[in-house]
Amino acid sequence: MQHDKILILDFGSQYTQLIARRVRELNIYSEIHPFNKIPTELSEYKAVILSGSPMSVRSEDAFHPDLKGLRGEKPMLAVCYGAQYLAHFSGGEVAESNTREYGRANLSYVKEGETFFKGITEGSQVWMSHSDTIKTLPTNGQLLASTHDVKNAAFKIEGETTYAIQFHPEVYHSTDGKQLLENFLVDIANVNPDWTPDSFVEETVDGLKAQLGDDKVVLGLSGGVDSSVAAMLLHKAIGENLYCIFVNNGLLRKDEFSQVLEQYKGMGLNVKGVDASKRFLDALAGLSDPELKRKAIGRVFIEVFDDEANQIENVKWLAQGTIYPDVIESVSATGGPSATIKSHHNVGGLPDFMKLKIVEPLKALFKDEVRRVGASMGMEQQLLGRHPFPGPGLAIRILGDITSEKVRILQEVDAVFINGLKDAGLYDKVWQAGAILLPVNSVGVMGDERTYEKCVALRAVESTDGMTADWVNLPYEFLQKTSNDIINKVKGVNRVVYDISSKPPATIEWE
Ligand code: XMP
Repeated sequence: MQHDKILILDFGSQYTQLIARRVRELNIYSEIHPFNKIPTELSEYKAVILSGSPMSVRSEDAFHPDLKGLRGEKPMLAVCYGAQYLAHFSGGEVAESNTREYGRANLSYVKEGETFFKGITEGSQVWMSHSDTIKTLPTNGQLLASTHDVKNAAFKIEGETTYAIQFHPEVYHSTDGKQLLENFLVDIANVNPDWTPDSFVEETVDGLKAQLGDDKVVLGLSGGVDSSVAAMLLHKAIGENLYCIFVNNGLLRKDEFSQVLEQYKGMGLNVKGVDASKRFLDALAGLSDPELKRKAIGRVFIEVFDDEANQIENVKWLAQGTIYPDVIESVSATGGPSATIKSHHNVGGLPDFMKLKIVEPLKALFKDEVRRVGASMGMEQQLLGRHPFPGPGLAIRILGDITSEKVRILQEVDAVFINGLKDAGLYDKVWQAGAILLPVNSVGVMGDERTYEKCVALRAVESTDGMTADWVNLPYEFLQKTSNDIINKVKGVNRVVYDISSKPPATIEWE
C-alpha cells in the first residue's frame, strides 16, 4: 500500500469501529488489531491509536500489552481506557470515579495554543463514557484540558508525541472530534491524507491483476451492493476471466431477477443467470421452522452454485464480497457483537468450490466505503443505494411454510410498498423495508361480500448496521395510501398492519 497507515489497537470498546471510520473519513487508511495480536511488522504504521474498553485498568486481569516499538517511537493517541492505561502503568493513578462521567461535557483549556486543539474553541462539547478516572498524570504528563467533572481530560507526555484523552472523539456527540483526530494525525503525526476511493480502485485493480494473472475466477452475485462492487473491481482487473453467477432462488423481490440481471449485463459483466426457483421451492415444501428453511436454502444454493462453478473449466479462485466488519468480528479480542447475524449465514458441508483459493477485494472496507468505491467506478446509485436484503429472501418473510402462491402474494405486496416508498421520496430515508406475510387469515368485507383472507405486516427501519434498529415514523398519509393500494391490487390480502417494534427487543426480520 502506498499510503500512510494507522494502527488502532482494540481493547474491546463498542466504539473501536467508529474510530476507524472517522479516521478513514479523513482519507487516512486505518486498521484495527486486537491488543493481544499486535502486528509484528510495525514499520508499516505511521501512528497508533489506543481504543477504549469495557475493562478497568485497576482490575487484576486488565489488558496490559507490551507497547514496545510503539510507545515513544510513533505518534500515539490514547482514548479513554487507552489514556487510563498510560496513566496507570506509567507512574500515574487511576481510581474509581465518584462523579458523573457519562455523556456530554465541555472542554476548558489548561494550556493554550496547542496544535492538538487547533480550530477547536474552548467550551467545545465532548462525550465521556467511563467509570474510572485519572487522579494523577503519568510520569512526564502535562495537562492540556479539563472539563467540569474531569480534571485530567486531556494530557500529553513531554518528550514524546503521545497524547491522551478521557473523552471519545470518534462519536458524533463530540462536536469537534473529527477535527481533533485530524489535528493529531495530519498536523502532529504528519500523516498524508491521500487514501481516496479513486486511489483504492486503482491500487486494488493493479493488485488483483498481479495476484490473479490469467486465472479464472468465479463469483456469486446476489444483487446486493457488496457482491456487485466486488464484481466490478474484478471485472476491471481481469475482464472476461471473471465468471459471475446470479442464482434466482425464487424468493427474490418481484421482477428482481430479470431486472438485476439486465443491469449486470449493462455493466459489462460476464454473468450467467440461473433460474433455480423450482429447486428451492421443492426443497422448502412443508418446512415451517425458520432455521430449517435457512438450512434448506443454504444447501440448495451450494448445490446450484457448485454445479455451475464445475462447468467453468480450470477455475482457480472464488471471489467473495466480504467486508471489513466481517473480518474484524472474526479476529476481535472480545468477540464481535454481531456474532448472531453471522450464524444466519451458516450453511454446513464443504462444497467443491471451497477447494478454490479465495479472493476478497473489499475486505478492508466498511459498507459506506464500498458504496463510495462503487460510485467512483461509475456504478448506478440505483444499485449502490439498495436496501439490504437477506440471503434467504422472502422465505423468512413468509411465516410458516412456503408455497408459490404465498410467494406471489408477498412479491406483489412488497412491490407496492417499495415502489410507494420510492415514489414518495422515502426510500433513501429508510435503511431497510419489506413486507411480511402472516400465517393468519382475518375476516373482512369487500363490496357486499365477507372475505377471509391474508394479513400482511409492513416493516421499515432506520439503522446504521442492522445491529440495532428503530421503526420509521412513516407519514400516516403514506401508510393510508399504501394500505389501500395493497388491498385493492393484491388479490388474497384484506388487512395491512405496520410493525412498530424496535430492535432490540424485536429483530428486523420476523423469522
Ligand atoms: P435481524 O432479523 O437479525 O436482521 O434483526 C439483521 C439484518 O440481517 C439480515 N438478515 C439476514 N441476512 N441471511 C442474510 O443474509 C439471513 O438469514 C438473515 N437474517 C436476517 C436482515 O435482513 C437485517 O438486515
